[in-house]
Amino acid sequence: MSSSKPIGVFDSGLGGLTVARAISAELPLEPIFYVGDTKRCPYGPRKQEEVCQFAFEVGTWLAARDVKLLVIACNTATAAALPMLQKTLPMPVIGVIAPGARAAVQATRSRRVGVLATEGTVASGSYERAIHAMDAGVTVVQQATPRFVQIVEHELASGNHLHEDWMRNKEIFDTEAIREVVAEDVASLRNHKIDTVVLGCTHFPLLAPEIRAALGDGVRVVSSAEETASEVRQILERRDELAASDKSSRGAAGEPMYRFATTSDDITAFAVAGRFIFGHALDSIEHIDLATLSELAPKITDLA
Ligand code: DGL
Repeated sequence: MSSSKPIGVFDSGLGGLTVARAISAELPLEPIFYVGDTKRCPYGPRKQEEVCQFAFEVGTWLAARDVKLLVIACNTATAAALPMLQKTLPMPVIGVIAPGARAAVQATRSRRVGVLATEGTVASGSYERAIHAMDAGVTVVQQATPRFVQIVEHELASGNHLHEDWMRNKEIFDTEAIREVVAEDVASLRNHKIDTVVLGCTHFPLLAPEIRAALGDGVRVVSSAEETASEVRQILERRDELAASDKSSRGAAGEPMYRFATTSDDITAFAVAGRFIFGHALDSIEHIDLATLSELAPKITDLA
């Protein structure tokens, strides 16, 4: 059996497209439905309960679009809401923290790992737990770097560099001001003799060259995108739900492969920045009203 249903993927904004891109590279036949909750980005500084509510609303919206698997392509939302979404939604739900932790444990030789993430992810301790579940002997040093989210969102919103494809021109954020901020914010990791840093926020792969340069030779920089894509493949294979290779049996006729929705009021900006990260044109984008989202999902405090 195969399934022509889409894979649901969501983030607080555009960063999760780094994960959606890796999924589309690993599984080019799979339709994807991506939601960016751009209007409420950033999630990083918000309380866990609030992020959990937002994730529940977006997850419920995607479940109503009949996705076969849901990927929380946001570390902050994974930390706040993964078990809750797994318990309440009808399809399998995965996050990006376990795949990111796995990438780090596989890469490290010294068993000293740094984590760069939002304040919310760092405060949750989720990376430390996930890494220690795989190897309790790994020393984990965490650093919250919320300015990286601001830089990425600001540069993308301003339209700077967006004529380039991010994967083809990886030096896009290479300005003196950005290099300085990155160097300042990763400086504390440099004294801990780590040999691997995991980018624990899906916005950060866009700054990977600057982060790599600031950390210096000898430190590997890994992210969760490819590991998450391979987990998606394994789950769909196990469940016999991969899309058929025969195009004619896929989806309703004329249905686009990739669909997008955003809470942002500026669909054009989302389309331009999204194309730059995802690597394909974002042809089908709808706007989601925040009121619709909160009407659709009950308050999580009323669920218990
Ligand atoms: N992309 C989100 C993550 O992976 C962070 C951005 C935000 O603060 O909303 O954690």
